[in-house]
Amino acid sequence: MSGFTFSSGGATCDGVDAAAVAAAEGTPLYVYSAALVVDRYRALDAALGACPHRVHYALKANSTLGLVRLLRSAGSAVDANSGGEIAVALRAGVDPVDVVFTGVGKTAAELEDAVRIGVGVINAESAGELARIDRIATARGVRARVALRINPGIEADSHPGIVTGGARHKFGVPIEDAGAVCRDAAGWSGLDLVGVHAHVGSQLTNLDEVARTASTIARFAQELRAAGLALEHVDLGGGLGISYDGTPALPVEEYARVLVEAVAPTGLTLLVEPGRWIVGPAGVLIATVVDVKPQRGSRYFVVLDAGMSELLRPALYGARHRLERLTPRSGPEVTCDVVGPICETTDVIRLGQSMPLPEVGDLLLVRDAGAYGAAMASNYNRRALPAEALVEGGGWRLIRRRQTVDDLLACES
Ligand code: LLP
Repeated sequence: MSGFTFSSGGATCDGVDAAAVAAAEGTPLYVYSAALVVDRYRALDAALGACPHRVHYALKANSTLGLVRLLRSAGSAVDANSGGEIAVALRAGVDPVDVVFTGVGKTAAELEDAVRIGVGVINAESAGELARIDRIATARGVRARVALRINPGIEADSHPGIVTGGARHKFGVPIEDAGAVCRDAAGWSGLDLVGVHAHVGSQLTNLDEVARTASTIARFAQELRAAGLALEHVDLGGGLGISYDGTPALPVEEYARVLVEAVAPTGLTLLVEPGRWIVGPAGVLIATVVDVKPQRGSRYFVVLDAGMSELLRPALYGARHRLERLTPRSGPEVTCDVVGPICETTDVIRLGQSMPLPEVGDLLLVRDAGAYGAAMASNYNRRALPAEALVEGGGWRLIRRRQTVDDLLACES
């Protein structure tokens, strides 16, 4: 099996000692398994095999160039959420036609560029955006390929910060209005309305809402076709969740079955935009203990050289990532609040972790950090963005070096 293997006080990534990578490259450090990224992409692609489909990896989960190149070579297309993500995709060698451009607030410049380079499809968020794309395309004498993002009014079961399909969420066009918007847009000279799109949330572990969304959107697509619109695809977004706590995850085959069951009867191509499921379990964050201090009540603070600036998820969503020790320690287990170095009380990595008391200099590893880890890292407190290493073929290489002070100041006068 590709990926990470843990023992008490150690970890390997595809046979490479994780502590050795950290010793060579320093911490905080993201480490990814190239083999696991590719295996997971292939597993999802294979699970959808019964239906004409295309996997568009959601770059927002992790758009480090080396990973995007890897997924492109494996055959993946991409979902980009900004002009910046489109630029990364192009640098990674992605063909513009393999880009779906999503995003709730695309600027005029981003839309102009997307039409100029000919992205595969722009997932429009509103009637206004469709009109803006139409004007741009008409002025250039081309037809832009567009899909409409539908808000199906389905509240998925996930963290409230990452559900997107409810009636009061900002995403897409309410399904009650979407038919009229699509029929209108289908008559415009600058547009080819080729699909419908929905994405109702992320870290979905309950298939009920996934199934309801898939059948609602597939039915909606059929209604449009019955009205004479020549659709090509149904894009059901991303969202498949992973297990952060080690309990069995939703099998990818079940997720795929639900999507295929809804879309296959339409004869349309199924597009999916998975991010987390592909890269989440394939990446870890390694950090060094920089301080250990007792609190009241036989509890300790273990302070790392990584915090919310490297991995925002615990601070932002109360996410709980499993921790592993890379430095063996015996001794009784004590309760540790593992925190970062930032001047914020919310700057935690994991509260209430039971483990033998670490010492300054020990290495800790945060699991399942491949998605929305490095991608959401920031320079808060003027901290350098961490380095990222890709383990591949029995060795590793840096796919992003650690920032320097010059990098931090590069845009300032
Ligand atoms: N497509 C669209 C339109 C999206 O908005 C998203 C994620 C995806 C695809 C990919 O979803 P995934 O397969 O990764 O669940 N920062 C949060 C997650 C935010 C997800 C935003 N949209 C986190 O750390 O949990």
